Amino acid sequence: MAGTPHIVVAADLPALVAQAAAHIRDAATAAIAARGRFRIALAGGSTPRALYPKLVDGIDWARATVFFGDERAVPPDDAQSNYRMARETLLDPARVPPANVARWRGEDPDLDAAARDYQAALTRGASAPWLDLALLGMGPDGHTASLFPGTSALAEEERLAVALDVAEMGTRRLTLTYPALCGARDVCFLVTGRDKAPALASVVEAGHLPAARIVRRAGPVTIFCDEAAASGLGAAKRDERA
Ligand code: 6PG
Repeated sequence: MAGTPHIVVAADLPALVAQAAAHIRDAATAAIAARGRFRIALAGGSTPRALYPKLVDGIDWARATVFFGDERAVPPDDAQSNYRMARETLLDPARVPPANVARWRGEDPDLDAAARDYQAALTRGASAPWLDLALLGMGPDGHTASLFPGTSALAEEERLAVALDVAEMGTRRLTLTYPALCGARDVCFLVTGRDKAPALASVVEAGHLPAARIVRRAGPVTIFCDEAAASGLGAAKRDERA
């Protein structure tokens, strides 16, 4: 139902990543069959590290364009780099052509310019919806991508990519915005751990916190979570067990 996410609760991480990987492979196959191309935005953080190796096979990466939902203000070889994590766990093992990968220039001293260039990369030779699938994580504070509570990025209604200050972390980030992420043909969240249970319940049940606007968007949203992260959800909200 529009505005209501489909929630898949997995008993453990292997079951979770198997379910999410199957969903993403199906989305890739459908996009390539329909439009000859699969445009995906990858999530950063630590949770996708277990999923990405499962995506090496079963997707025609030569016909894919890979974006990132967000990036830290670091060089591409930094341990904090979302690009580096994806390169090590997916892009290199899958031999994704470098020309098919749009990396944020996190190392750029002018992050606003880097954000403008990323919007240009996202829209080049394409039309809206800009993404076939946006893969997202969520923090214990309900942030997703780098749409953190109380930040300027939450109010952005025009631009698809912005740089922002994250005062609580004393850092700057680069992120796709609500217009870019809410506009994706399909959205998947990957959420694990008990520390995220209150935020997930608040996002799903009450519609609060930054991730809520994406979870409640009109299009299809699937939340893949483990038992611990789902522990705050009422039984009625759990659509599927894996
Ligand atoms: C980032 C992410 C961010 C992440 C959440 C969850 O760059 O940090 O894009 O939105 O998905 O913080 O992170 P974990 O998966 O590490 O819990």
